[in-house]
This record gives sequence, structure tokens and C-alpha cells, in this order.
Amino acid sequence: MEIVPLDSAEEVGALGADVVETAVRGRPGAVLGLATGSTPLPTYRELIRRHAAGSGPSYDAVRCFTLDEYVGLPAGHPESYRATIARELTDPLGIPAERVQGPSPDPGGLATAGERYEEALVAAGGIDLQILGIGSDGHLAFNEPGSSLASLTRIKTLTEETRRDNARFFGSVDDVPRHVLTQGLGTILRARHLLLLATGAAKAAALAAAVEGPVSASCPASVLQLHPHVTVLCDGAAAAGLARREHYREVYDAKPAWQGL
Ligand code: PGA
Repeated sequence: MEIVPLDSAEEVGALGADVVETAVRGRPGAVLGLATGSTPLPTYRELIRRHAAGSGPSYDAVRCFTLDEYVGLPAGHPESYRATIARELTDPLGIPAERVQGPSPDPGGLATAGERYEEALVAAGGIDLQILGIGSDGHLAFNEPGSSLASLTRIKTLTEETRRDNARFFGSVDDVPRHVLTQGLGTILRARHLLLLATGAAKAAALAAAVEGPVSASCPASVLQLHPHVTVLCDGAAAAGLARREHYREVYDAKPAWQGL
């Protein structure tokens, strides 16, 4: 796992955008795994800014898969993750809706939605670069504490902590759905490169547990320790709980340029 402590959320966004652009330049038909939430927004805004300025790569052949989706929202709800990712990233990059997929929360098909999503991921050849955030309770995608480290896409119940964290996107905590469809931790481990973004003091304890604590279902993000290619970009506030943060920064500063992230 490569941990890169940075000074600000803007720096996380700029380097995050570099990682995405490198993946797309390296493979024009790259399959991107996209996270929602506040943390990836500086990265997405930077990608959009570069695209609008004409300095970004072509997204003409890129395909996207979202990490998770709420269950129980009316179709087209602005806080659904399909609508959110279209608004925050794929529409501005000119990636059409037919090249963006998410787990389907259609009430008639929930029992098989996970299996069908896994099949779609396999048919696409797997995810090249998966962008991830981390929950204040250590969740990864919507895999809450206690989730199987081998899990695949399925329906899950959100913790009260996560529903409170996400209440800012809805009128109140009561409006946050209780159920979600989420890629499993085993699904996430199948992606070829994982990019975890973490900013703000509210993530410090979860990030420290994920990176330096034991691998445990009690901290789902600790499953990242099992993956051979993980890049963690964090700001100073999120890095504050990392015992070895100075060493991580030294390693990054001493890295030969040809190695990339
Ligand atoms: P956030 O969410 O980026 O909005 O903090 C992260 C997450 O819940 O995984």
C-alpha cells in the first residue's frame, strides 16, 4: 500500500486527477470504478476543469461503474448515485449514460441485482482503476463494519452513523434510505488499482485503523491491506492518526519519477 500524505484536499484532488488521467491515457478503453460522496469531488472537478481546458485525455471509449446505490429512492432522484455521478462527473466529461452502470435498485429485481452487477463487471473485463472513499466508521463503499472481507455485490443495511453522515445530502436523517446495493469487499479487491481518497479530521481514526490496524471485518477498509496495488491520497487532517506518516511522505518524496503511482 502506498500512502501519500498531502497538504490539502486540493492537492489530493490534483494528484487524484493525475492518477485517473494516467489510467485513461494508458488504456483509452479503461474501465473506471467511481465513488460518490464529498471526498472525490475535488478530483472530479479537476478532471472536468482539465477536460474543458482541452488538456485532459479522451474519454470516448471509457466505461464507468459506480460502487453502490441507494435502494428505495424514486427513479431519477437527484441523490441517487446514478444521478449524482452523472451530474458531478460523467456528463461534464461527455461520457454518455449507456457507458455508466450501477447496481440496479429496481424493486422487482433486488434479489438478483448483485449477481447481475457482478456479471456486468466481469463482462467489461474488470475495473482498471477503482476510486474509493472511507466512512468515518471505516466502511468501504457501503460495506459497514462486520461485512465479509470476501463479499460480492449485494443489498446491505446502513449504520445509523452512516445515515447521519449522509443526512447532509437529504432533508434529514429520516430521509436517508436504510438499504443500499453495494459492491462487496471481494468485488473491490478484484479491481486492478485501488485509489483511496481521504480528507478531513473526521476520517483520521478510520484511516489509521484501515492502514495500520489489523485486517478485520470490524474495519472494512482494512481489507485494502490485502490488495497488491493501493494508492492512498490523504490531506494532513486525515493523516493525523497515522503513526508512520512522516515515513510515508519520505518514501513518496524519494520515489523515482518513472515509477508513477
Ligand atoms: P464522503 O463519504 O466522501 O462523503 O465523506 C465517504 C464514504 O462514505 O465512503
